[in-house]
Amino acid sequence: MDDQDYVRIFDTTLRDGEQSPGATMTSSEKIEVARVLSRLGVDVIEAGFPAASLDDLAAVQAIAAEVGQRAVEGRPSDQPPIVCGLARATQRDIDKAWSGVQGARRPRIHTFLATSPIHREHKLRMSREQVKQRVREMVAYARSLCADVEFSPEDGGRTEPEFLHEVLAIAIAAGATTLNIPDTVGYTLPDEYGALIAGVRSQVAGVEGVVLSVHCHDDLGLASANTLAGLRAGARQAEVTLNGIGERAGNAGLEEIVMALHTRRATLGLRTQIDTTQLVRASRVVSACTGIAVQPNKAIVGANAFAHESGIHQDGMLKHHQTYEIMRPETVGAGQTLLVLGKHSGRHAFSLRLIELGYHLEGEQLDKAFERFKQLADRKKQVADADLEALISSEFLEARDYYTLEALQVSCGSIGMPTATVRLRGPDGTQHVRAVVGTGPVDAAYKAIDQIVELSTTLLEFSVRSVTEGIDALGEVGVRIRAEVPGPRISPQHAATTARVFRGHGAETDIVVASAKAYLTAINRLIGALERSRDAVARTPTGELTPSTLAPNPSA
Ligand code: KIV
Ligand code: ZN
Repeated sequence: MDDQDYVRIFDTTLRDGEQSPGATMTSSEKIEVARVLSRLGVDVIEAGFPAASLDDLAAVQAIAAEVGQRAVEGRPSDQPPIVCGLARATQRDIDKAWSGVQGARRPRIHTFLATSPIHREHKLRMSREQVKQRVREMVAYARSLCADVEFSPEDGGRTEPEFLHEVLAIAIAAGATTLNIPDTVGYTLPDEYGALIAGVRSQVAGVEGVVLSVHCHDDLGLASANTLAGLRAGARQAEVTLNGIGERAGNAGLEEIVMALHTRRATLGLRTQIDTTQLVRASRVVSACTGIAVQPNKAIVGANAFAHESGIHQDGMLKHHQTYEIMRPETVGAGQTLLVLGKHSGRHAFSLRLIELGYHLEGEQLDKAFERFKQLADRKKQVADADLEALISSEFLEARDYYTLEALQVSCGSIGMPTATVRLRGPDGTQHVRAVVGTGPVDAAYKAIDQIVELSTTLLEFSVRSVTEGIDALGEVGVRIRAEVPGPRISPQHAATTARVFRGHGAETDIVVASAKAYLTAINRLIGALERSRDAVARTPTGELTPSTLAPNPSA
């Protein structure tokens, strides 16, 4: 792709990212990350630094052979990504890098040498002339092995511009196809970095025939801003990492750059081929493989990136999501917008959440419930659906027994088939009897209840404990079941059906009876929720509730 507006995404999670303190990954974790990167649609995977160790070399070889040979399913492009290996500007490193990547369909060698005065003098102890000579020789050597060669003047951000231009021109003449300008220590400011890239573009001989690349570190929290400044100044490759991991404070985050280009396309006029809906998933894989957690307030992929807590924000969101949302969560694969109920939440958001849960309170009842909610939110940071359920059902709803257990008989043991015969009385007073075989007496009893109530549920949790000591102790059973409850569509970002969890509890000396009672309590709660949700949907002509239809009715 050579279009002027196309930005190549060069991912260095497996190289610079792996240099994050504590981020070491095993070979199989690296391959897993490489697959995820390929599925995302990155153009280049910097798979590692093969000269660093035999393990690094083996991981790069494995990535080249697998991910670099064929496009993984779901990849936006039908070509496999370029697989790149890093090398210092020495023959040994370049040989190792080549041995790492040569098994890929599109291999690249990335070689680097520091150019800034402080690195030349104290780290390399090389003169300007020696640096130029080494670049000339090593880029040419890399090019003799591989048609795709990238050169980076390390600490380019602190290099004298005229010297930088000279070195870059030498690299081009020696065969480099991509020139990367690293702000290795994250020192530059966005306007300085933009000017640096603009200077390279206008001053370096032969630059029009190569791709210019940006590589920014986050020591001053400016990595993304600098990367964007470099792209605006004409660079067409961005070197980034997932979750922004990398040496010290890290690199520019792939997710931030991709979403900035995507969200501000009209202004920036640049595009990538990244499948943005994979971003959150990719971020999670990297976090799991490196053991580095993503901070909750991290842009794009943090847990709070699409969560709104303040009452004013929640109210705005419910009226129109663009009031406080510049991108849709599903665009980055983050699921739905989350309105977190807490002490800042307003009455509007509170009443909508109740409706979603199947409770339609109005007038005084709603006022009272909201007051109780505020008291709870003062003590608890976040109020979960289960808290709301407890609050509403204890105060405002009479628990109704739609079905009651009249009799239960089980036969079980080491021979034969565990069978339960259950007799329930239904909501209209009718008796229902079923005898069912199960894997054990409790399973058989639950299956018999299921056949009578005809509801589809998933048993999430079943726990038994003895309340007191001794053989005649009461057995206490707790169950949690999950079921789909249809509800009104409150706003475009709310699903019309939500999976909800119902708890049940039973205590008896016979633990099979306790189990049946606990299950039936949860089932009765589910039936209550289904009934309330039917009522709520029936209140609106289309089943579609809008913020205005939900506003508290003063005459109610
Ligand atoms: O930050 C840096 O200078 C690097 C180079 C090796 C490209 O990571
Ligand atoms: Zn770096």
